[in-house]
Amino acid sequence: MNTSLLSVDNLAVRFDTPDGAAHAVDRVCLNVHAGETLGLVGESGCGKSLTALSILRLLPVSARMSAGKITYKNDNLCEFTDVRMRHIRGREIAMIFQEPMTSLNPVMPIGLQVAEPLITHKLFPAADAYAKAAQWLEYVKIPAARKRMNDYPYQLSGGMCQRVMIAMAMVCQPNLLIADEPTTALDVTIQAQILALMRRLKGERQMAILLITHDLSVIAQIADRVAVMYAGQVMEIASVEQLFDQPLHPYTQGLLRSIPLPGTSGERLFEIPGSVPRLTAKMRGCKFNPRCIEAQKRCYNESPELLNRGKRHEVRCWIGQN
Ligand SMILES: Nc1ncnc2c1ncn2[C@@H]1O[C@H](COP(=O)(O)OP(=O)(O)O)[C@@H](O)[C@H]1O
Ligand SMILES: [Mg+2]
Repeated sequence: MNTSLLSVDNLAVRFDTPDGAAHAVDRVCLNVHAGETLGLVGESGCGKSLTALSILRLLPVSARMSAGKITYKNDNLCEFTDVRMRHIRGREIAMIFQEPMTSLNPVMPIGLQVAEPLITHKLFPAADAYAKAAQWLEYVKIPAARKRMNDYPYQLSGGMCQRVMIAMAMVCQPNLLIADEPTTALDVTIQAQILALMRRLKGERQMAILLITHDLSVIAQIADRVAVMYAGQVMEIASVEQLFDQPLHPYTQGLLRSIPLPGTSGERLFEIPGSVPRLTAKMRGCKFNPRCIEAQKRCYNESPELLNRGKRHEVRCWIGQN
């Protein structure tokens, strides 16, 4: 369980804007072990998607990726040619996105879309790929899957489209699935079904998942470990149990106090005061200092590093550090 499959080391992504450099991802470090689910959680705009897109080299053209090393198995992906990256995408590392309707090709039948990665990566001849696609559509529980192979995405509901996306991501049996807000666009009941499907895949297919979400309750249901991001930085990484029982970063503590717990309906939820800093803001010290209720003098002057605090529990905070 502990072999590192993917490790992201000091990743930085910026955009050059008229107001100066916007540091959207700032020295992010994280790793995903074989077979585990790492949750990446944080408010909208904190750099989760850009982190994921960097891994697969799918950043928007205006983004500048600097520094950083991305190691997959024993290779540094940053040194790969575009052709080698194409072999990685889909086959080794697959990705699913928030909006299945816009990620699927609207003018291609779903069966063909699921078969396509197998054909592109030359894993199967077309007829066999098509048969495999049918099996996968059944596996992700598309009702009457074989009959629906010729359907177009518009003929399916959002939840069904997300199942098709998952089948498409899974068909080459990747070692790592990156799921960027896979359930955010769906109703609560459909969300639960998709999460159950992902849990099943994880159990039966020995695949690692990097699950991106702004929703801690999704993390609680499916992740083994969690990385909490704030303003482009990872603030805390721990196992799900540790993070929920003993959050060490004041931001994580605030996040946990702001989710409703069973049996507390009607009580007013905690809100973290203030708002996320502008990406172009020149800040000294910790990026969370304007909103931190525990900030000390040092927090306004020096930026903390992400450091080990106990067994596999890392925190970027001066409080509690010697
Ligand atoms: N193409 C872009 N041009 C300029 N800024 C961008 C672009 N894409 C993302 N950003 C900025 O980078 C930050 C992080 O974006 P993103 O990774 O999409 O956040 P998240 O997925 O956590 O919601 C956001 O604040 C966003 O404004
Ligand atoms: Mg996003």
